[in-house]
Amino acid sequence: MNTPHIQTFPNLQALTAAAIDTVLEQAAAAITERGCFTIALAGGNTPKPLYEGLAKANTPWAQWQIFWGDERYVPHDHPDSNAGMAMATWLKHIDIPTANIHPMPTDEPDPAVAADRYEATLQQVLAPATGTIPSLDLILLGMGPDGHTASLFPHTAALQIRDRLVTVGDKDGQPRLTLTVPFINQARYILFLVTGANKQTALRHILSRTGDPHTYPAMLIEGQCTWFLDQAAAEGVVKQQGV
Ligand code: 6PG
Repeated sequence: MNTPHIQTFPNLQALTAAAIDTVLEQAAAAITERGCFTIALAGGNTPKPLYEGLAKANTPWAQWQIFWGDERYVPHDHPDSNAGMAMATWLKHIDIPTANIHPMPTDEPDPAVAADRYEATLQQVLAPATGTIPSLDLILLGMGPDGHTASLFPHTAALQIRDRLVTVGDKDGQPRLTLTVPFINQARYILFLVTGANKQTALRHILSRTGDPHTYPAMLIEGQCTWFLDQAAAEGVVKQQGV
């Protein structure tokens, strides 16, 4: 397990400013080294101001490849759609080729077929060496009060998947699509954005490694992790960890 890097910010605004800098730094480095930058986006509320900020950034968008870490199984124009949210707050405001934007498909009657399609898209764009797990340059993740991340929810089958990049998640019986634990852990840079006091209990178990990973799925993310926390989420957690 890699030692996570944890940074605490007084508020969402300061956390967002640091996240914008971090994403653009990682993009510049990847484009210099490999000619392109591959990123997977998080849903939920916390990343919205980050996306709004990136809409104003000066970067070669044509060398970005945009994926999602998870998706609610609804049409992309539905208010709950993660793809819809990122399009509205960021992607429709920038000059990026449509072919570089890869929303998770939600138009299949069977979500498992949609997961297969997205797996093929990832393999095709990331083109890993035969038999290896491809690496995204950066994946953005949030965390729920229950310790879920992406759509890897407590005590669900998706947590066990080790031979795929994408699988079907289960939120209270509602299907989701989600990247899998081994694929997420393969990313060159994993950036957690976590805000709100209601996240403290899960964070305490996750950062102290005292919880059960199936109860707190974010514990299964053990790659190159950086945690950006606001003060409300970090209160009574980070200091106790002596981190
Ligand atoms: C989703 C997300 C999910 C989210 C957490 C945290 O589709 O809901 O990808 O994993 O990141 O629920 O959400 P907040 O940032 O809104 O607290």
